[in-house]
Amino acid sequence: MNDGRQFTGSSGREPAPTTAPAPLAPTTSSGPGDPPSAIVRDLIKGTVRFSALYAFVRVAGPQALADGPLTSEEVAERCQCDPVLTRRMLRALEAYRIVTGAPGSRYRLSPAGRLLLPDVSGSLRAGVLLNGSAPWREAAAGLSETLLGRPPLTSPDDSPYERLQQDPELAAAFDRYMTALATPVGEALAARGFEGVGTVVDLGGGRGTTLAAILRHHPQVRGVLVERPSVAEDAARHLAGQGLDGRCEIIAGDMFTAACPPAQRVILSAVLHNWGDDDCAAILRQARSALTAGGPDARLWCVEELLPPPHADTDRGAFDLDMRMAALFPQGRERTADEYRDLLGRAGLRLETVHRIPASPRSLMIVRTADTR
Ligand SMILES: C[S@@+](CC[C@H](N)C(=O)[O-])C[C@H]1O[C@@H](n2cnc3c(N)ncnc32)[C@H](O)[C@@H]1O
Repeated sequence: MNDGRQFTGSSGREPAPTTAPAPLAPTTSSGPGDPPSAIVRDLIKGTVRFSALYAFVRVAGPQALADGPLTSEEVAERCQCDPVLTRRMLRALEAYRIVTGAPGSRYRLSPAGRLLLPDVSGSLRAGVLLNGSAPWREAAAGLSETLLGRPPLTSPDDSPYERLQQDPELAAAFDRYMTALATPVGEALAARGFEGVGTVVDLGGGRGTTLAAILRHHPQVRGVLVERPSVAEDAARHLAGQGLDGRCEIIAGDMFTAACPPAQRVILSAVLHNWGDDDCAAILRQARSALTAGGPDARLWCVEELLPPPHADTDRGAFDLDMRMAALFPQGRERTADEYRDLLGRAGLRLETVHRIPASPRSLMIVRTADTR
C-alpha cells in the first residue's frame, strides 16, 4: 500500500476547506446542455479522477478519516504520505464529493466517502480496488486493440474468470464487489411473492448474497447455488455463517452443464452480460429445463443492467458497463430489454415484465417458459 517513504515539510498555503461546501456537481460531470469542449474534457478527466480515488483507497485514506475529521497533515501522517500532495488530493476529493470540509481546516468523509470504508454495509471499496487492478486497467487501456479485433485481455481462453482463478487477492475484491452490488438485488427479490415456491436455483450466484436474502425471508424455501468451485467454497462459508447451510445445496461446478433440480424460481443475476448470445442460449436452456420441471408457475428471474433503447437521452452508466464488458470478456455485452426478449425467445422463454430494482442500476426481468400460460 505504501512504500514506507517518509515525507517531510510542506510548502505554500492552501485555503482552508470550506465548512459549508457550495454545490459541486457541475465540476464532476457533464450534462446535456454543456458546450462541446466540456463534454470531451469531462471524458478526458475521467481516468485521472478514478486514479485519485484509487490512490486515496490504496493508502487507506478512508480508514484514516473513519473516526472523525482530520487536517490534511494528520491524514498524511496516518497514511505515511507526502503532506503537500495529500492536501492537494483532499482538495480534489472535496470537489468529487468524497470528503467535505470541517471546522479547523479539517476534512471528514462524506456519505459517499464512507462507502470506501472496508466494513460498512454496501462498501464499494472492493470495486475501487478491482477496477484499479492491473488486469482490469490493462483491459481498459487495450480497448482500442480490442476494437481492432484483438481478443479482450490476452486470448479467448483467458477470460477474467481465469485471471481470478490465479489471483486470490483479485478474486476476493471481485467477489466482495459483486456482494455489494447484489445486496439491493437480494432485498428486492426477497420482497416479492413466494407462494408455492419450494426451490430457488441461483446460477452463477456468487457468494450467495441474493439467495441468502431470500432464504432469510422465506423459511419454506430451499436454495440451490451453482458456482465455480473456488467461489462455491466461499459461498458455503457465507451461507453457513448465516445458519442457512441446512437449507441450501451448493453445486461446485459449471452452470453450462450442472444438473439443475426442478425449481419454481431460477435466478440469473449479472450472469448473462458476461457471455455472447450462443453461450447465453446454452445457460438459458439449463434454466428452462429446471423451470419446466418446476411446474407451470415457475419463473426465471433475470437481473441485468439494461441499455436504454437506441438514441434515448438517458444515464450513461449502462454504457460504461458495456464498455467494461467489451474490454474484459470475449463476447460479453449489455443489452436492451428488446435484445433480452429476443435472446430469451431463442431458448424457448418469454419475457413477461421488467421492473427497476430500488437502490440499484439493475432491472428484474420476469420470464416464463414459452409453452406455459
Ligand atoms: C458478474 S458475477 C455475478 C454474481 C452474482 N450472480 C451476483 O449477482 O452478484 C458472475 C458470476 O458467474 C460465475 N460464473 C462464471 N462462469 C461460471 C460457470 N461456468 N459456472 C458457474 N458459475 C460461473 C462467476 O464465478 C461469478 O460469480
